[in-house]
Amino acid sequence: MTHQVRAVVARAKGAPVSLETITVPDPGPGEALVRIEACGVCHTDLHYREGGISDDFPFLLGHEAAGIVESVGAGVADVAPGDFVILNWRAVCGQCRACLRGRPWYCFDTRNAKQKMTLADGTELSPALGIGAFAEKTLVAAGQCTKVDRAASAAAAGLLGCGVMAGLGAAVNTGGVGRGDSVAVIGCGGVGAAAVAGAYLAGAAKIIAVDVDDRKLEVAGKLGATHTVNSRDADPVAAIRELTGGFGADVVVEAVGRPETYEQAFYARDLAGTVVLVGVPTPEMKLELPLLDVFGRGGALKSSWYGDCLPGRDFPMLIDLYLQGRLDLDAFVTETIALDGVEAAFERMREGGVLRSVVVL
Ligand SMILES: NC(=O)c1ccc[n+]([C@@H]2O[C@H](COP(=O)([O-])OP(=O)(O)OC[C@H]3O[C@@H](n4cnc5c(N)ncnc54)[C@H](O)[C@@H]3O)[C@@H](O)[C@H]2O)c1
Ligand SMILES: [Zn+2]
Ligand SMILES: [Zn+2]
Repeated sequence: MTHQVRAVVARAKGAPVSLETITVPDPGPGEALVRIEACGVCHTDLHYREGGISDDFPFLLGHEAAGIVESVGAGVADVAPGDFVILNWRAVCGQCRACLRGRPWYCFDTRNAKQKMTLADGTELSPALGIGAFAEKTLVAAGQCTKVDRAASAAAAGLLGCGVMAGLGAAVNTGGVGRGDSVAVIGCGGVGAAAVAGAYLAGAAKIIAVDVDDRKLEVAGKLGATHTVNSRDADPVAAIRELTGGFGADVVVEAVGRPETYEQAFYARDLAGTVVLVGVPTPEMKLELPLLDVFGRGGALKSSWYGDCLPGRDFPMLIDLYLQGRLDLDAFVTETIALDGVEAAFERMREGGVLRSVVVL
């Protein structure tokens, strides 16, 4: 059996997205069919639409989603129809070199559905990050579904599926932020704001939020930033040093993805401190640093993919903290929209006024 559902498709590079009826197969072995309840609009969806990720058009966009498992294929034991799940793009394989070394958060062979979803004329779709959740239903590998407490709002829960987990994990998992640390976050969009929230959860004593947009700094303040710096008005490196006794922060998270902000992060950390790059640069970007400073300042320069998360470990725990009022996921939801509102949401994302627009079905 197949399912005909409405979905948001990017047909060609740079062209506006369209609402289409697509065909979704019933789940085969190891797969799950999920009825989507909510899906956030992430910068990566816009990158796909602009041809910045690959040329495999048409794309089925959307990948920050929560929903209900409708049916599962043969051999699926971990989730069952009726489960409330967050979708992830790290369904670990258990067999690659990273998994075998006991570091599954780096898994180099993550799992997706084997069967293809298609346009009405049979053209195969490429689901964004192997998910494709701006759709009434989508087909994923069962390992991409993580069951969480049904009491959570779907709009808030879905955000853990990408940007919020990436930022929060960059601070807590990759950066290893702990009680008493000083932390600076450069760029406080959805990802950076989540790094602020993560540093707060982990007990950081000082959390300095840096952005060029006061609206973002205001939200960062609500999520736990103890100080804010607008880097249009002030030199962020000098400001961070001044706020940390002249030394710099223990951990600096770069959540913009540009050479100049990376350089700020590099010099805004204390000796032997840690820089975490979570912002994604573009191919032409280059960085030049005195090698003597790389040596002399010591510490660690790290990159963070998906916040080094393990969905099965982190999603249920973070949803529990959300339900206890200790992690304000609702603060990331600027607006809820319908499936036909994704193109307009991309416009607002470019303008900078939203942390997250979330499609609610
Ligand atoms: N590593 C991962 O696994 C992962 C996952 C998701 C997203 N990302 C990346 O994280 C980055 C941030 O994503 P987002 O959704 O928060 O995007 P966003 O556009 O919402 O946020 C970017 C923020 O940076 C600010 N900014 C821009 N230039 C600045 C500057 N010079 N100094 C200080 N702040 C500046 C903007 O005002 C904005 O608030 C993107 O590059 C995205 O691709 C990485
Ligand atoms: Zn693996
Ligand atoms: Zn994303």
